[in-house]
Amino acid sequence: MSTSAALQPEPQPIIACTISRDVQIFDLLIEDMESALGENWGDLSFNDALAFLEQPEASELQFVAIALDSEDEDDLSLIVDIIAAAKAKSVKVILIAEDLTPASLHQLLREGGDEFVPYPLPEGELREAIQRVQNTPTHDPVAPEMRNTLSATEDRSGVVIPVHGMAGGTGATTLAVNLAWELANVDPELAPRVCLLDLDLQFGTVATYLDLPRREAVLELLTDTEAMDSEAFMQALLSYEQKLHVLTSPTDMIPLDLLGPADIERLIEMARINFDYVVIDLPATMVEWSETVLSAAHVYFATLELDMRSAQNTLRLKRALQSEELPFEKLRFALNRAPGFTDLNGKSRVKRLAESLGISIELLLPDGGKPVSQNADHGVPMAEGIPKNALRKEIAKLAKSVHDVNVAETAKAGG
Ligand SMILES: Nc1ncnc2c1ncn2[C@@H]1O[C@H](COP(=O)(O)OP(=O)(O)OP(=O)(O)O)[C@@H](O)[C@H]1O
Ligand SMILES: [Mg+2]
Repeated sequence: MSTSAALQPEPQPIIACTISRDVQIFDLLIEDMESALGENWGDLSFNDALAFLEQPEASELQFVAIALDSEDEDDLSLIVDIIAAAKAKSVKVILIAEDLTPASLHQLLREGGDEFVPYPLPEGELREAIQRVQNTPTHDPVAPEMRNTLSATEDRSGVVIPVHGMAGGTGATTLAVNLAWELANVDPELAPRVCLLDLDLQFGTVATYLDLPRREAVLELLTDTEAMDSEAFMQALLSYEQKLHVLTSPTDMIPLDLLGPADIERLIEMARINFDYVVIDLPATMVEWSETVLSAAHVYFATLELDMRSAQNTLRLKRALQSEELPFEKLRFALNRAPGFTDLNGKSRVKRLAESLGISIELLLPDGGKPVSQNADHGVPMAEGIPKNALRKEIAKLAKSVHDVNVAETAKAGG
């Protein structure tokens, strides 16, 4: 260190703040903050905290320690706003509470409290909480327009539509993403709630195709599905233009067997009770929980192409499902890059393929050419970037027919 720096010490950076009705009530907190941070912290009242947190320099804070007792409990709304303001600046929140009811505490933690320490502070607890918030990465900064603002309703019974590529690269993700988007836009008057789950956990590209960030929150959700409730599920979703709600695949490549059938079942159920349509992008490989997805499915799209690779895999899948008496009939085969109507030779090849596999190919998805992959690289659904593309038109038609069938069935069931 140079001498001039020693003579004129830099002002100590403030890295944390206590926020309370009156910090003097929490004298142990003052002691513990001093012992953990020295002089590098400040103190704010509830009223000043909000104004401060809205200033740009607030993002220099690592955390705020919000202290409250039963007297503050009557009006938690200001505290909720303070937590939200801190979160918006990626500032962590440690809650220090004395005699708070579990309901209030639960609410505050749900609003975004990262840590909770009871007051009077047990020896060393605050220091440990501080270390934890300092060591965990700041909650993934998600642009406000991508945050899911839809709340949980738990009053739906969504149609579950997985999409599974019979071979890699056969267009499963393209179909899943665009089908989900078309469904979200199928009825402007009464827009269905649509959720898209990327269960291609290792190589999922839904996030790429919709230009959404991958988040730590997804892994947190997946690693403890037993603790997941609707709120936690909704918070892990990202929103595409507030119309399509997406669970992206995790940031890091995780082993496929990290999730078991029970996890997947819970995840799909969470989505189903909160959305009208649950579109699921699946990995091309069969996994331990493939069967779980198949049994939850209402229709199950299987994409394939007019080649040996797709044909052989389809045959194997068919045999596997039939030997286990699984519902093979749920599969709707979608031939991607299908030959056009005028291609008579191509048409007879499609017919022969279907006959030799003993399947019916109900959907023919045309080749949309280079613009399809270019558009995906721009991170927008085809309806936004290339609305006139032949592939987009076909997927829009499919969405409409899925929706019409669903509306008709709901009407029948309702009366
Ligand atoms: N009908 C089509 N016309 C033109 N391009 C297409 C068509 N279907 C898919 N593509 C392009 O082919 C590539 C692979 O498609 P996609 O990612 O949807 O396949 P996938 O089955 O999900 O692959 P993976 O096995 O890697 O998950 C992408 O670049 C996509 O844009
Ligand atoms: Mg894919």
